[in-house]
Amino acid sequence: MDAKKSLSLELRKANADLSLLYNIIEDIAGEIDLQRLSEKIAKEVKRRLNAEAVFLMLIDAEGLSLELIASEAIKIPKVTRIPITGIIKETFDSPSLHFGRLKIGSEVFASSLCVPLIIQEKPIGMIAICNKEAKGFTDGDKRVIQNIALVGSIIRHAVENAKLYKNLQTTYFQTLQVIGKTLESKSRYTQQHSEHVAEYAVLIVKKIKEKKELEESMIDKIRVVAQLHDIGKIGVNDFIVNKPCCLCEEEWKVMKEHPVKGYENIKPLDFIDEDVKLGIRHHHENFNGKGYPDGLIGEKIPLLARIMRVADSFDAMIFPRPYHPKTQTKEEAIEELKQHINEWYDPQIVEAFVEGLKEEGVIQ
Ligand SMILES: [Fe+2]
Ligand SMILES: [Fe+2]
Repeated sequence: MDAKKSLSLELRKANADLSLLYNIIEDIAGEIDLQRLSEKIAKEVKRRLNAEAVFLMLIDAEGLSLELIASEAIKIPKVTRIPITGIIKETFDSPSLHFGRLKIGSEVFASSLCVPLIIQEKPIGMIAICNKEAKGFTDGDKRVIQNIALVGSIIRHAVENAKLYKNLQTTYFQTLQVIGKTLESKSRYTQQHSEHVAEYAVLIVKKIKEKKELEESMIDKIRVVAQLHDIGKIGVNDFIVNKPCCLCEEEWKVMKEHPVKGYENIKPLDFIDEDVKLGIRHHHENFNGKGYPDGLIGEKIPLLARIMRVADSFDAMIFPRPYHPKTQTKEEAIEELKQHINEWYDPQIVEAFVEGLKEEGVIQ
């Protein structure tokens, strides 16, 4: 190749590199949400490198494992945490590009390129570009990767911003939890209610999981639903919450607004899963469609909400409440749940709950 041709080729490559830089920056600029930012980066990198999978991972707060923030792959591995071993450890020990075999969950990628993300000389995470087959990366790929490393400082900056934003959201979430606790302590009848409900609800999820495929994350999700299900009562007057009986029509109307209010409280939190938000919104829907707020029917009611309906009622029956100071035994409460299957409760959920309680030796 003569000098002129080679120079023209170099110029073309340089031009392509610049346009890549420009596009990535343009794409991610202004993105403040960590999740969306990470997804954009993963998508862009996968598209440009024509790789089978791209993963973006950040080191967790304890620095012990990586959290999978975004993945672009045909089959998304069912993991959220990845141990810092093998090529991941190598990439962090000497922060530069590392090439080798990478295992994410049960998926093994024979050729993977790991690019560390570094803030103030400290690795905070990495991007992994992966292929199943043991094939190398071309010079062109490497140039793209170098560019990714080049725009790294921008990505890092954006991630830092996004992290700050996430911290803000976390603080808001923690505040909600504290408010939830305060709410419980305000009512002498509902102290520790959400903890009990969480226990029962987790038991139900585990039982269902034995019979049908259910994401592992459902356990964490139901815990959050249980913790926050009545958060919407924040706005309801103490007098109504603690009223011994017979709410008048107007009071009842106010009380019935709490699922929607709770949903509105957590709606702005991007890092809370939509399943959790819907679990809170629909925790008073009845299986026959006559519940509130939306009158959803049967399996149209989100699973987490159907589970909550059962766990929440059970705890309400066995612990004194303003409207029924006399409690029921666990056996009596189970009988009552059974009497109202298909009406208020999903029969499959009640069945799973009864099985779970029997196995735990809570009931005979
Ligand atoms: Fe409620
Ligand atoms: Fe409740």
